[in-house]
Amino acid sequence: MKHAHLIASIAAAAVLLGTTALAETDKKTERLWKAQCASCHGATGKGDTEKGQQMKVQDMTTAAFQAKASDEFKKAIVNGVKTESGGVKQEMDAFKDLTPEQVDALIAYIRTFKK
Ligand code: HEC
Repeated sequence: MKHAHLIASIAAAAVLLGTTALAETDKKTERLWKAQCASCHGATGKGDTEKGQQMKVQDMTTAAFQAKASDEFKKAIVNGVKTESGGVKQEMDAFKDLTPEQVDALIAYIRTFKK
């Protein structure tokens, strides 16, 4: 019985550590989003900021936006965006300093904006 107890405790500890690590990454990604992306896209992806509205950025919470492929998001983040929509210049710098892991985490974060 003692053994079973020990194993159960180890398993519980592992689960706890796992979730803490995950929560820690989410926090980091949230901070990254707020620091580097939210000025245009808004804290919740709605694009409801001065810059976001000036450039008419898309509302990332809509089904239409969320239907896009993650690869397309990746390209935009890594290479930047330079386009025009209805006479408005839409520009986003390339984020060359982000690691591939950070880019993937940001895309996963964008997916959480879905309504
Ligand atoms: C200076 C303002 C600005 C900042 C800062 C910014 N973006 Fe953008 N982003 C834009 C504009 C403008 C577009 C093009 C219009 C659109 O798709 O809404 C765009 C497009 C995108 C797209 C492409 C959407 C599609 O249709 O494929 C993604 C994904 C994206 N941004 C993610 C990010 C992430 C992640 C960050 C932070 C690392 C970030 N953006 C920071 C302005 C910005």
